[in-house]
Amino acid sequence: MNKATRKADIAGNWKMNKTPAETTALINEMKPLVAGADCDVVLCVPYVDIAAAIEAAKGSNIKIGAENVHWKESGAYTGEVSADMLTACGVEYVVIGHSERRQYFGETDQTVNLRTLAALKAGLKAIVCVGETLEQRELGYTETLLKFQTKMALTNVSKEDLKNVIIAYEPVWAIGTGVTATADQADEGNGFVRAAIAEAYGADVAETVTIQYGGSMNAKNADELTAKVNVDGGLIGGASLKAEDFSIIVKAASK
Ligand code: PGA
Repeated sequence: MNKATRKADIAGNWKMNKTPAETTALINEMKPLVAGADCDVVLCVPYVDIAAAIEAAKGSNIKIGAENVHWKESGAYTGEVSADMLTACGVEYVVIGHSERRQYFGETDQTVNLRTLAALKAGLKAIVCVGETLEQRELGYTETLLKFQTKMALTNVSKEDLKNVIIAYEPVWAIGTGVTATADQADEGNGFVRAAIAEAYGADVAETVTIQYGGSMNAKNADELTAKVNVDGGLIGGASLKAEDFSIIVKAASK
């Protein structure tokens, strides 16, 4: 398998945006624009918007994801949501280890791994985020860090379960900043992630894994980014809140 045979995946990450009513309106606007896409199309939405999103996306090619998941099946974990709760609502994907979770909510490589294992056990597809800060890049640690984060996130994930894992390489300095990595930087970062997977599972397996780029991907730069050999789609923040921009990115990844 290689880029030509791996299916690209464009996932929107809405972060802390949109009410249920706004969710319905935005998905209704997106549906005709992304119909017939030759890539997977996912929208990861706040927990409170999941029901509205699933209802609005019915009968379309849009799949719904959550933005986080806890690793326990149930219990005294105020404010948390389990993987089984998500699947019971019809959720198919979940974002794990987003840099905003790592930065603001104390997420660690270990909890990212636990959440990934729990999501996979419940049958969810896990979109696991990795990425270096600007300081780490300037110190020359990008490759070491991306490989470490990737391997830590995938600890005890079987080869079989890896089929349900997407890795999103998101340089922290490019998220929500309008500063996009160049296409070559994105390709290189994704290549480091693929190399880490190859070291852990073998090169053949690594070639089958979908690796997204994320960080200020937009309607203007999506063509160039998604054309790169290691970039199998994207995790889209800001531009996923605009139906037309999101659909242009979906079309770029469908080429
Ligand atoms: P951005 O966010 O596209 O707004 O930079 C990407 C992300 O955080 O996944």
